[in-house]
Amino acid sequence: MTETATDKAALRAYFDGAGFERWAAIYGEGTLRSRVRRTIRSGHRQMLDTAAAWLAETVPVVPPGATALDAGCGTGLFSVRLAERGYAVTASDIAPRMVAAAAQAAQAAGVRDRVTPHTGDLAGVTGRYDAVACFDVLVHYPQPQFGAMLTALAARARGPLLFTYAPHTKVLAALHWIGGRFPQPSRRTEIRMIPEADVRQTLTAAGFVVRRHARVDDGFYHVTLVEAYPKEPDRE
Ligand SMILES: C[S@@+](CC[C@H](N)C(=O)[O-])C[C@H]1O[C@@H](n2cnc3c(N)ncnc32)[C@H](O)[C@@H]1O
Repeated sequence: MTETATDKAALRAYFDGAGFERWAAIYGEGTLRSRVRRTIRSGHRQMLDTAAAWLAETVPVVPPGATALDAGCGTGLFSVRLAERGYAVTASDIAPRMVAAAAQAAQAAGVRDRVTPHTGDLAGVTGRYDAVACFDVLVHYPQPQFGAMLTALAARARGPLLFTYAPHTKVLAALHWIGGRFPQPSRRTEIRMIPEADVRQTLTAAGFVVRRHARVDDGFYHVTLVEAYPKEPDRE
């Protein structure tokens, strides 16, 4: 197996196993005893709120028949928001349990008819979409997988592409180094920091321009949220 396949296989196993419980709890509504998880939950919510507000500004009225891809949809928090705005959403994730949870969330929100669940690696998704979202997925991949996956996502977007990555800063690098010296068995994922220059280079090569970006920092949650768009939206 290639390094990429091995990494993806490991992440799939994690998010379909112990990681499912951990992340479903963080993304849920129940009480969290751990401060680490509480800050991840609140930072993540803040990030999703910002992404939703940006998308609403960029696309104030969702045209009938507009499509969206939520790549690495997890438990479907953003898939549901996209469907509620009127998009026909493909909610795709490498972990079958996550996809099932996303379908359940869509059912509970009354938008199941606008959500198509799909299980698989985001690099294998086909078709083109009016909006593409990919939150807190690329944070798990080092280069060169990161660049290949971001390029694959860009190929799917004919409109806004919203995603997060883990920014590379000296302070965060030091925190990661300290964290790595005290590994916790329940934490099987690593956050892979990517320099901003790499992100911009990949987007430029894919024909995308950054519309805006913002750091979201809350306790143990640190990401950069990016909204990019294709220079030539109608290219096929
Ligand atoms: C931390 S969760 C984020 C979930 C969701 N995007 C959100 O922000 O609520 C990361 C998700 O990425 C998925 N994932 C990891 N690697 C993936 C890949 N190569 N293709 C598709 N999904 C992937 C995991 O299964 C997991 O559900």
